[in-house]
Amino acid sequence: TASCTWQGKTFVITAGPTREAIDPVRYISNHSSGKMGYALAQAAANAGAKVVLVSGPTQLATPKGVQRIDVETAEQMLTAVQQQLTDCDVFIGCAAVSDYRVEDIAEHKIKKEQNSEPPKLSLVQNPDILKTVAQSANAPFTVGFAAETQNLKENALSKLQRKQLQMIIANDVSEPHQGFNSDQNSALILSKDSEQSLPTMSKHDMAVAIIDAIAKRYFDTSNRS
Ligand code: PMT
Repeated sequence: TASCTWQGKTFVITAGPTREAIDPVRYISNHSSGKMGYALAQAAANAGAKVVLVSGPTQLATPKGVQRIDVETAEQMLTAVQQQLTDCDVFIGCAAVSDYRVEDIAEHKIKKEQNSEPPKLSLVQNPDILKTVAQSANAPFTVGFAAETQNLKENALSKLQRKQLQMIIANDVSEPHQGFNSDQNSALILSKDSEQSLPTMSKHDMAVAIIDAIAKRYFDTSNRS
């Protein structure tokens, strides 16, 4: 992508895992490292966009020229994203957001009690950030990810439709050496009437390819819907 392609446009990108507290020392999370989302933020910034990266906890350095907002929980991520929506042309949901959180976070560390039943965690559903963005007034061009372990295309297409997205990036996270926490990935880029297969490549190269694919649709107004 030429370095001026996205001049004057703003991307909001989520990355990394969320953490849902169980008690003051324990949480529910997942294996997302943030690498894919950070690579997207860097690629969009390199292509001239203003980029806001809303990030769960990661070990990564902030990409050059990118504004980063750190959050922990899904609810905090939603709030941070909503605060950025007044100035957002493209939203990419790359974060691995916990679908559930613990209903009542214990105030003190849960103790191991002798001779009693193990504690049971009661979960409640988290808000769907991607769906909330896609269905907001003046919604940006909204791109989701689908992390699947089976029926990759079918499940991703159903997310595309259900969440009313312009595009979805489907990655098979059951394959070794790609997806969560690896430096490589392969994916299918799906929109309602197009499909592009990205073979195994570095997350950096994939990010450039994804930002290019978004540009093709975003700037071709006949394709906008
Ligand atoms: O971070 P890495 O280690 O580099 O790994 C990259 C990745 C595998 C995490 C990434 O490529 C990826 O697939 N991200 C999406 C992970 C995910 O949670 O997928 P999902 O199929 O469960 O969710 C579908 C979409 O809805 C995603 O865009 C997700 O951000 C969004 N979502 C999900 C739940 C929720 N409560 N709110 C959301 O916005």
